[in-house]
Amino acid sequence: MRVDSLDEMLAFGAQIGARLRGGEVVELIGDVGAGKTSFTKGLARGMGITDAIQSPTFTISREYDAGSGLRLVHYDFYRLGEAGIMADELAESLADATVVTVVEWAETVAAVLPEDRMIITLSLVADDENARVISWQTGGERSARIMEDKDDTTA
Ligand SMILES: Nc1ncnc2c1ncn2[C@@H]1O[C@H](COP(=O)(O)OP(=O)(O)OP(=O)(O)O)[C@@H](O)[C@H]1O
Ligand SMILES: [Mg+2]
Repeated sequence: MRVDSLDEMLAFGAQIGARLRGGEVVELIGDVGAGKTSFTKGLARGMGITDAIQSPTFTISREYDAGSGLRLVHYDFYRLGEAGIMADELAESLADATVVTVVEWAETVAAVLPEDRMIITLSLVADDENARVISWQTGGERSARIMEDKDDTTA
């Protein structure tokens, strides 16, 4: 599908975020500036998180409390390359049923991510700096159910 503005991207993220109950994993694929962190801001809003979401580019991970026992842990492995010292923390979030794990630049940790995850790809659009194309794959039933009525046919 296509969004034509940042607001539409935030709304898309929020719709997905509102469906999350903990234990879900989202891998975000896309170039620098494609909107991975922006999508995550929307997702957080949909989860009921009121804190400002900041890119984990330098901290590698950031954690947010959604209340009612649900948390978001947001990773960005761009600068780290391989998970290394973060591997244990990542494994902990993945195993925690009260955590939603979102990962940017996951190539080097893809092997430890569960198959049942949402892989969401964001692409820049050549002639419109505010538009993005969003496509996705789901690796199992839980993630498929979350994305099921989203329209990916125009991707
Ligand atoms: N439709 C849109 N969706 C998402 N971002 C948009 C859109 N239109 C414009 N933007 C702008 O594009 C930028 C996207 O930056 P963002 O940090 O979300 O990208 P990123 O994919 O996380 O990049 P990085 O790989 O550096 O972490 C923001 O400045 C945002 O305001
Ligand atoms: Mg980012």
